[in-house]
Amino acid sequence: MLTNQNIVQPINDTVGTSARMSLKEKIDITRLPQHVAVIMDGNGRWAEQQGQVRVFGHQSGVTSVRETTEAAAELGIKYLTLYAFSTENWNRPKDEVDALMELLVYTIHAETATLNKNNIRLAVIGDTDSLPDACRKVLDEAILNTANNKRMTLILALSYSSRWEIVEATKKIAQQVVEGKLQPKNINAELFSAQLNTSLFPDPELLIRTSGEQRISNFLLWQIAYSEFYFTETLWPDFDKEEFYKAILDYQGRERRFGKTSAQMLQQ
Ligand code: FPP
Repeated sequence: MLTNQNIVQPINDTVGTSARMSLKEKIDITRLPQHVAVIMDGNGRWAEQQGQVRVFGHQSGVTSVRETTEAAAELGIKYLTLYAFSTENWNRPKDEVDALMELLVYTIHAETATLNKNNIRLAVIGDTDSLPDACRKVLDEAILNTANNKRMTLILALSYSSRWEIVEATKKIAQQVVEGKLQPKNINAELFSAQLNTSLFPDPELLIRTSGEQRISNFLLWQIAYSEFYFTETLWPDFDKEEFYKAILDYQGRERRFGKTSAQMLQQ
């Protein structure tokens, strides 16, 4: 006999199956962003909440760097950019800056083997000349040692600020004009992009910022022209693979129109 229960049951089953699906399983791997950029924020507040010094938050943040890198590579994302140290961060207390630099040197050195094992290439953007010698050295070595890896590129933004990058690009273009190698009428967005630190990478489709702050803080201003933004209250040391999957799923629910109408996008 066909009862209400019989009819309802299969629907309930489907809902149950979908609820049981892990966040990772819900991601459509055919519609991944190629490039995800992350403003890692909230280390200091996280440490203070634990009654610890700020540096403890940065140390704990390394686990989230590892988790996010692994999650991105496992999904098949090709580029991951992490804002690890901004030009403005040089103004923090000297003790904190020194500790961050030490942590960077230690982490990059310690993680190079894992990057190689996972076929991940390391790259850097920013004013690397302003970094301490030990940091530059370990970065150069890691970049060289991972140069042939193809699965994903992990880009660290170090001593980076977007306005600095844009000014530097402008100087290079102006120099070419002064030398008669370039006509001002031939300057366009493509040519400008080619002078940026990020010239070898596609623009990020998704920008994540942790810790509840909703600002860009001088990060990739040119490159995020059409990026989707994802802000989460989660503090960086609490950001893990599941948090990353949530951001990707949220991105997959967006409609990216690039200035066109929904109808035009459907016709493409
Ligand atoms: C922002 O939190 C975080 C930073 C300025 C540093 C990020 C660095 C790491 C996670 C460590 C190492 C990274 C790599 C790539 C090896 P905040 O200090 O501004 O936090 P707050 O806003 O709560 O003060």
